[in-house]
Order: sequence, then C-alpha cells, then structure tokens
Amino acid sequence: MTVTLKLLTNLFLSSRIIRVRKQLIFHMNDINDLTEIKAINGLEIRPITPENVESVRDFRDEMYVQKFRMLLKNSQIGVYAWLNSKVVGHAWAKVCTHGKCRLNGYFDLSANETAIHTCNVKSELRGKNIYPAMLSALCRHLLCEVSVSRVLIDTAEDNAASLRGIAKVGFWAPKGLGVYIQVFGHLVHSSVNNHHLNGQD
Ligand SMILES: CC(C)(COP(=O)(O)OP(=O)(O)OC[C@H]1O[C@@H](n2cnc3c(N)ncnc32)[C@H](O)[C@@H]1OP(=O)(O)O)[C@@H](O)C(=O)NCCC(=O)NCCS
Repeated sequence: MTVTLKLLTNLFLSSRIIRVRKQLIFHMNDINDLTEIKAINGLEIRPITPENVESVRDFRDEMYVQKFRMLLKNSQIGVYAWLNSKVVGHAWAKVCTHGKCRLNGYFDLSANETAIHTCNVKSELRGKNIYPAMLSALCRHLLCEVSVSRVLIDTAEDNAASLRGIAKVGFWAPKGLGVYIQVFGHLVHSSVNNHHLNGQD
C-alpha cells in the first residue's frame, strides 16, 4: 500500500501536474558587495535588444526567441554573453515598478525590487565564470542605473553550479528558503522561511 502510494506520488510529481520547488533566496542592495569577475578571455556582456534577441538561437531552441521577445515586450532587462561573435549565455531581470509582482508564477517582489531569472550558459563553456560575469553586469546596471532597492536571485537548493556562481558575485549567504507548490502552474502553497539559515535576516 505504502509502495503504491509512493509510486503514485512520484508519477504525479514527474508528470509536472504538481511542481514542488525548494529555492534558496539571495539579496543584494549595496553595490559595494559586488565582486569583480574575471571571466574567460574575449567574453563580452551586452544588453538584449530587439535587434539581437534572435541570436539566442546560437545555443538554444527556437522557442527561446519567442520567449525572449515577450520578455522584452514586458520591459524586462536581459543580457547576452558573447564569445567569438556567438551568444553563449543569457540572464534576465524583472523589475517590479509598482505594487506587488509575481515572477514565474511563484516568486513575489515588492515595488522597486528586481529578480534575476532565466539564466543559462552553453554547456561546453560552463565553469568559466560566464554566469557570474552576466550576474555582475546585471547587478551593476540594476543597482546603479535603474536604482532598484535590491536585487534578488533564487535557485534550487540542490543546484550546486548556480549556487557557486551566485556566491562568486557577492551574494554571500542565502537569506531565506522558499518552498512553493504549483498545481497545473497555479501556486497552491508558498512559504518563505527567513530564519531557516543561521538566523540570517
Ligand atoms: C548554473 C550555470 C548558469 C552556471 O554557469 P557557469 O558559467 O558555468 O558558472 P561558473 O563558471 O561560475 O561555474 C560554477 C560552478 O560550476 C561547476 N562547474 C565547473 N565546470 C563545470 C562544467 N564543465 N559543467 C558544469 N559545471 C561546472 C563548478 O563547481 C563551478 O565553480 P568553480 O568555478 O568554483 O569551480 C550553468 O551551469 C547552467 O547554465 N546550468 C543550467 C541552467 C541553470 O541551472 N541555471 C541557473 C538557474 S538559477
């Protein structure tokens, strides 16, 4: 009986009908916390624009062209990492301009906060500081030019590569653990435990 229940639960979880996310959440509000990143030689980080958005095809599926066009239309801020005239990485940020905003169906932001999301680096080029270079460029732009009150980023608690990249940029310690349950894409449970991690606030 217990085995059947476990099997059914696993089937349910893997079918994506129900999605449970456990995300570590990091904040940065002071540009002095930002660490300079030395990435692979020749790497350039540039804004994503309507003119270059299609270059995501250099390493990702066609569906990302449509997705990224939509993000631009919704005034989101993105960067591409370029190496030898090819896009090898992307990262995006949503700025919450007023009221409350929800990102990706679960992550809540207050006015003047921003969250970095949808980051990826071409698999053959991972481990060369491309992700931290994109995060660093985005954080600088968001804190110094957009003047947001703080930059947030979250990642799955078992995503070791992402956690390492986030730490390199100066998001030193996680400020909370978010647990989110989505059913058919709708958020049915959300809890953020700020005291979970060594009493960090
Ligand atoms: C997470 C991700 C963006 C990191 O990009 P990156 O440019 O490789 O980041 P870094 O260079 O800082 O590498 C981070 C860590 O990944 C690990 N790593 C090293 N080489 C690697 C390789 N070839 N492949 C995978 N991971 C590697 C190392 O632990 C490295 O830390 P180190 O530099 O201290 O050794 C990338 O792995 C990725 O695109 N993953 C899939 C999508 C994803 O998880 N996005 C983030 C969601 S928030």
